[in-house]
Formats: sequence, C-alpha cells, structure tokens
Amino acid sequence: FERHHAGIPAIDPEQHRLVIHGLVRQPLSFSYEDLLAYPQHSRVYFLECSGNSGANTGAVAGDSSAAALHGLVSGAQWSGVLLSTLLEEAGIVEGATWITATEADGASMGRSVPLNKALKDVFIGLYQNGEPIRPEQGYPMRLFVPGWEGNVSVKWLSQIKLTNAPANFKDETSRYTDFLADGKALQFTYPMGVKSVITSPSGQMALRRTGVHELTGLAWSGSGAISRVEVSADSGRTWADALIEGESQALALTRFRLPWLWEGAPAVLQSRATDSAGNVQPTRSAVLALYDAANRYHFNGIQSWDVSAQGVIKNVYA
Ligand code: CO
Repeated sequence: FERHHAGIPAIDPEQHRLVIHGLVRQPLSFSYEDLLAYPQHSRVYFLECSGNSGANTGAVAGDSSAAALHGLVSGAQWSGVLLSTLLEEAGIVEGATWITATEADGASMGRSVPLNKALKDVFIGLYQNGEPIRPEQGYPMRLFVPGWEGNVSVKWLSQIKLTNAPANFKDETSRYTDFLADGKALQFTYPMGVKSVITSPSGQMALRRTGVHELTGLAWSGSGAISRVEVSADSGRTWADALIEGESQALALTRFRLPWLWEGAPAVLQSRATDSAGNVQPTRSAVLALYDAANRYHFNGIQSWDVSAQGVIKNVYA
C-alpha cells in the first residue's frame, strides 16, 4: 500500500542527502551512494498505517472487502543500514533521549522516536524485496521503525536530529494522536496492536457450495510474534485453534488456516490473535470503549464476516 500527504516527490538520488545532527559529537551528511557502502541489515517486517481498519469504527458496517477495510498493511523484506551504526559514527552526546526525523517532500512530515527504540532495531530503508525502494515508498531512503505505526517510518528521509525531547511535529499533535472519551488526546502511541483478519472467505466473496472450505487469513502484532490464532464460526461463542503456517516471526505477517465444514446455515466468521507478549486481540466494542467516537487510529478489533444461507459474505458488527 502507499500513503502520502503531498503526492510522490521526484528526488534525484545524486542530490539527496541524509543529515544527522543535534546532540552528536560530529554532525554527518550521507549521500545515497555513501549508505550503499555500509553493511545491509535485512529483515521481514509488516508495515501498517495507524488508520488501517479505521472504517470499522464507523456507526454502520460498510459492505466492504478485506482489502478495502484492512489493506493498509504490507509484509516485505526490508533492507538498509541500521541507525545504530550511523549514530555510533556520529557519537551520541549525553542527554540525547530522542531522535526527530523529517522528510524531503512538500508535506514536511516529521516524527519523534525515543532513542532506545532508535538504537534497538530502527534502520534506514534502502531496499524492499531486493529492489531499491520505489518513489511511493520513499526513494531514495526512508526511516523504518519495525512494529510501530507506519507514519513513524518517515519516507524521503532527509534529517535526523538528536534531541532531549520530542519535537511535537504537526504529525504528532494535530494528527496521529488518539481521541479519548474525556476530550483529551493520547500522543506517541506507537506499536500497532495485535490484529488478525480472515482474508478468505471474506467480504464481497461468496461460498458457491456447501462442504469443506479453508478459512485463511493474516495476523500480526507490533509487540512481538503471533503465538496463537483462534477462529470462530458462531460469532465468538466457540473457538478453534488455527494452524500457524511456518515459523511465526516477530513483527511480521503470519498466515493462519483452518478447514471449516459449511452445511449451508448462516454463520459469523471471526479470528482472534494472541501475540508473544500475551496481548489478545480485543472485540470491536472493547476497542471502541477506549476512545472517543471520532477516533480512527489503532483500531484492532475482531473482524466479523456474516455468511448468509445463500453463501453471501458481508462485513458486520457482531
Ligand atoms: Co498512534
């Protein structure tokens, strides 16, 4: 998926620079070619917009597909230079506790990241699935912050400044904050919640025969690996454990599947994921109770797909 706030800038990689400055001993400037010469760190990660699935916070369940409801998430192999490598070279000055990252496009997006996260697993993304990242994904370089809301992975990255406080950019005050019922807004809510969705069968699909169908979908969490996915065909009254395909990797999309015998009766299909930190995907109503009705970010409630006696599948609130 792609999401941007001022279109897709055309950046000449020969002219582009990444500057690291602020609370460092030696400010540094890197060209694209400079970064290609560093050891490349490579991992499979999910990347999810914090507004993904937000349509299901609305008052009426839209007749939408899984992609339309939950498609602002991707899974890919990302490669680039660990930020810790570059910060070690610049020399972190005592007192630095945050990095603030800004981009080179017309929206001047900026986000702040605590230094401990920046040193843990954040990197400068240069490749996606083995090819240079595309302009829509931030070519020639982007920040990549594993497991955290996609907006923090600042694209077309041009500056990293080390500071002793968050910058309070517009993108972390007026946007990407979570409205609470008491009129306040939560700032700096970063990790994406544990989530799963049955992708087949799902909204706008149809079961064309009775008999055994495979239920399959994707699960992920910003707090670890997926340790369990349960599936229900009766709106959450009973659950069965789905098979998790392969080794479940931390902060990556995980495929699950389970055979299901459909004998032609109406059903409501749901999936519920648990992550390695013990977080269990909540119901839709449990998520809504945390926020003001206007909040659209960080919605990870259980998805319900209604199956009619005719086999027609629709998004429902159950
Ligand atoms: Co957030």
